[in-house]
Amino acid sequence: MSAVADLVDKVVESHRRDRDMLIQVLLDLQGSLGWLPPQALAEVSRQLRVPLTRVYQVASYYKAFSFAPRGRHSIKVCVGTACHVRGAGRVVEKMETDLGIKRTQTTPDLRFTLETVNCVGCCALGPMVMINDHYHGQVSSDKVSPLLARYK
Ligand code: FES
Repeated sequence: MSAVADLVDKVVESHRRDRDMLIQVLLDLQGSLGWLPPQALAEVSRQLRVPLTRVYQVASYYKAFSFAPRGRHSIKVCVGTACHVRGAGRVVEKMETDLGIKRTQTTPDLRFTLETVNCVGCCALGPMVMINDHYHGQVSSDKVSPLLARYK
């Protein structure tokens, strides 16, 4: 059995092979692998006896699931109105330049995934950048490089 099939087997077993636990199984796999590779989805379909189309349907519906590898660090730059007027666009551009990727992409070394969001609820402190679970306020383009350097 491959490593992925073995992992799927363990996760499915931990949910008593109950097909009603499909979302929880996918969440566990997303947590362990960082994304949902096609091989894992095929294994889930086979082991839970749920059609593969249904597995993809569920996995595509929820934002928590990713069909591509994600970086160890998740960057979310807020581009909501309050952050936008304070220069969030320039922050995103500087991130793209420093990381050599565009928004929604992951660096080839799987260090960072860069995304934009529309409001993280701290408008007075904008531009806001969330890296993993940490909120960084009043981020300007000249603060981007030192900020990224803190995440290895
Ligand atoms: S608009 Fe950025 S935190 Fe609200």
